[in-house]
Amino acid sequence: MPKVVVLPGDGIGPEVTAAAVEVLREVAPDVTLEEQAIGGGAYDAHGDPLPQRTRDAVQDADAVLLGTVGGAQGSPWNALPRHLRPESGLLALRKALGCYANLRPVRVQPGLEHLSPLKAELARGVDILIVRELLGGLYFDGDRRIEGSVAYNTMRYTTAEVERVAKVAFWAAEQRKGRVTSVDKANVLEVSELWRRDVQALRDREYRSIHLNHEYVDSVAMLIVSQPSRYDVIVTENLFGDILSDLAAVIPGSLGLMPSASLGDGPGLFEPIHGSAPDIAGQGVANPAAAIMSAAMLLRHGLKRSDAANQVDRAVALALREQPTRDLGGKADTKAFTHAVLSAMGSP
Ligand code: NAI
Ligand code: MG
Repeated sequence: MPKVVVLPGDGIGPEVTAAAVEVLREVAPDVTLEEQAIGGGAYDAHGDPLPQRTRDAVQDADAVLLGTVGGAQGSPWNALPRHLRPESGLLALRKALGCYANLRPVRVQPGLEHLSPLKAELARGVDILIVRELLGGLYFDGDRRIEGSVAYNTMRYTTAEVERVAKVAFWAAEQRKGRVTSVDKANVLEVSELWRRDVQALRDREYRSIHLNHEYVDSVAMLIVSQPSRYDVIVTENLFGDILSDLAAVIPGSLGLMPSASLGDGPGLFEPIHGSAPDIAGQGVANPAAAIMSAAMLLRHGLKRSDAANQVDRAVALALREQPTRDLGGKADTKAFTHAVLSAMGSP
C-alpha cells in the first residue's frame, strides 16, 4: 500500500491540507496517510522545525504532501536563530529529499480569466508547466566567495544533471501535448551551450515523439506574459527557472491557484506555492484549491495515477466556477469549496 506523509505545518497549512486529504481519501482510499510535524508548530512541540521523527517518516514514504510554514510578522518564531525558524524546516526537508526538478503548472481556469492581470483574450486557455532544475547551477556548490570588492559564484552543470531534469520535462510532455521549450542563454553562456546540446541529444535518442525547441531566457521573459499560449512545457536551469516561475505565477491572478511538485529519485514533495497567510489563518476561509491541485500532482507524479489526478483537476475546475472562494471574488469558505470539489467528483 502506498504511503503518503502529510505535513500540515503552520497558519492556513492545516486548513488547506485537511481539504486535500479529504479529496485524497475519496479518490485513493487504499493510500495510507501519516501526519507529521513541520515548521513553527514542530519547533514549539519538539524544539526542531524538522524533527527527526518527520525526517524518518518522509524517507520511506511514496510522496509527501506539505501545507505551509511560517508565522506572522512579529511572531516569536522570527526571533529564533535562523536554523530553528519555520522556513529552515522546509529548506532542510527539500534538501533531505534531494528533489532536483520543481514543477509549477500555470493554468488559467475557464471562467476565471478576469482575475488575471493580462487581458482576458491573452489569459484564456493558458496552461503552462514550468520544470525548473532545483539542485544545481549558481545556487549550489561550486566556487563561491567574496574577496574584498570582488565576488564569485560558479554556474556549473553536468550532462547527468541536465538529462535527469530534461527527462522529467519530456515525461510530463508525453502526458500533455508532446511539446517542450528548453530555455537557456546559449548565445552567451557555456553552461547553456551544454544544456542545449544535452537536452537536444536526449530528445533525439529517447523522446523522438516530442517536439522540442530552444529559446533564450530574455526572450521568454517577454513572451511568457505577452503571448503565454505559445508555451506548454518549459524546462530550464535553476536561476532562470526561479525568475520565470515567479513571473508566470502572476498570470492566474491568485496565489490560491498555484500548486507545485518537487521530484527527485526518492519521494516527491507536493505543496501549494502560497505561504501560511497569517492574516486569514483560523477563519476557515482559505482557498484550498492550490493544496488540492498539489494533491492531484501527487497522484500523477508521486503515485503514477493519472486518471485519479485528472478526476481531481476536473472537479477543481468545476468547483472554481460554481463555488469561488473569497480571494477569487466569491463567497465560498474552505469547507464549501472542498464540498463542491467532492460533489464534482461524484461523491457527497
Ligand atoms: P502568503 O502567501 O502567506 O500571503 C500573501 C497574501 O495572499 C495574504 O494576503 C494571504 O491572505 C493571501 N493568500 C495566500 N494563500 C491564500 C489562500 N490559499 N487563500 C486565500 N488567500 C491566500 O505570503 P506572506 O504573507 O508573504 O507570508 C506569510 C508567511 O508564510 C511568512 O511566515 C512566510 O515566511 C511564509 N511563507 C511560507 C511559504 C511556504 O510554506 N512554502 C511560502 C511563502 C511564504
Ligand atoms: Mg522564488
